[in-house]
Amino acid sequence: MSCLESWPEPVVRVQHLLDSGIKEIPERYVKKPCDRPSLITESATSEMNIPVIDLQDLFSDDDLLRQTTVSLVDSACREWGFFQVVNHGVHHQLMAAIREAWREFFHLPLEEKQKYANSPSTYEGYGSRLGVEKGVPLDWSDYFFLHYLPISLRDEKKWPKLPVSCRELVGKYSKEVVELGGKLMKIFSTNLGLKENYLQEAFGGNENIGACLRVNYYPKCPQPGLTLGISPHSDPGGITLLFPDENVSGLQVHHKNNWVTVKPLPNAFIVNLGDQLQVVSNANYRSVEHRVVVNAEKERVSLAYFYNPRGDIPIKPAEELITEDNPPLYPCMTFNEYRLYIRTRGPRGKAQVESLKSPH
Ligand code: OGA
Ligand code: NI
Repeated sequence: MSCLESWPEPVVRVQHLLDSGIKEIPERYVKKPCDRPSLITESATSEMNIPVIDLQDLFSDDDLLRQTTVSLVDSACREWGFFQVVNHGVHHQLMAAIREAWREFFHLPLEEKQKYANSPSTYEGYGSRLGVEKGVPLDWSDYFFLHYLPISLRDEKKWPKLPVSCRELVGKYSKEVVELGGKLMKIFSTNLGLKENYLQEAFGGNENIGACLRVNYYPKCPQPGLTLGISPHSDPGGITLLFPDENVSGLQVHHKNNWVTVKPLPNAFIVNLGDQLQVVSNANYRSVEHRVVVNAEKERVSLAYFYNPRGDIPIKPAEELITEDNPPLYPCMTFNEYRLYIRTRGPRGKAQVESLKSPH
């Protein structure tokens, strides 16, 4: 698709827009009144929070303890599509170190970051928008996107050289997070009534799944009530493992017609289901819309790890879940084909996965 080769207009880095000293945000970032957030205040005392699950007992020899955890995961998937996990096996020190390394990256001079400026053909590198339609509304964030798996797509030269620790940390962190993703895939498979390795194999098998990291940088915003850090969207892939900024809330999950603000726990991951799990599970599990609110006083850095199907294999509802009463809801397509939609049009709620539904 030739329209994906380059951006339709010069890319503006939100961070440097802010550094230029503006007091009002440009029109392109202002959302329609009905799409604007209600701001997160420190005094917001909503009792609602996404479920928190301790994964410690997954590794227990006690079947009952293990089964309890597995059931909690299943309820969280069905009721929320979003949950936090603690005792997940990823080293806390590594988490803290990688977040600070990325914060340092975003604080480097613009010229250094521009060396990694991305294009919409692969999205790898330093970016500031999704979607290539000219004139589309923009979100208040910059990001860095890179591939870890499949190995054929891994190219460490495209990862930041500075700060000097960055490449090594990305390698170590990716290994641990991908391992956690694999464990969750087994639990999800079993909970759906599939063979333990079903999802992993459907996604291409161990070394062939798609694993990529998107580091989001949300600069402070002089008018946070008018814009969003990321517009409502569901994640297109399989599972997302998000390491949010513990010091600043921002992520909101659409639940029963409300936007619920996630209160991040220290060292936890936020896990959410993406569109490809909705497809393979034939909507037994559903991806969930979420968005990000920005803040006038504090910047925010989050690391979103996407555990996806390999791009070029066909993905379709699991035959085991298809019956006369439950016909397949989605046609077969590759993740590369699927992903073109969000890459062309930018975040649009759950419009994409819903538009796929085959007429029955
Ligand atoms: C994403 C995302 C949420 C966040 O990158 O897809 O939803 O809190 N990020 O940064
Ligand atoms: Ni997301």
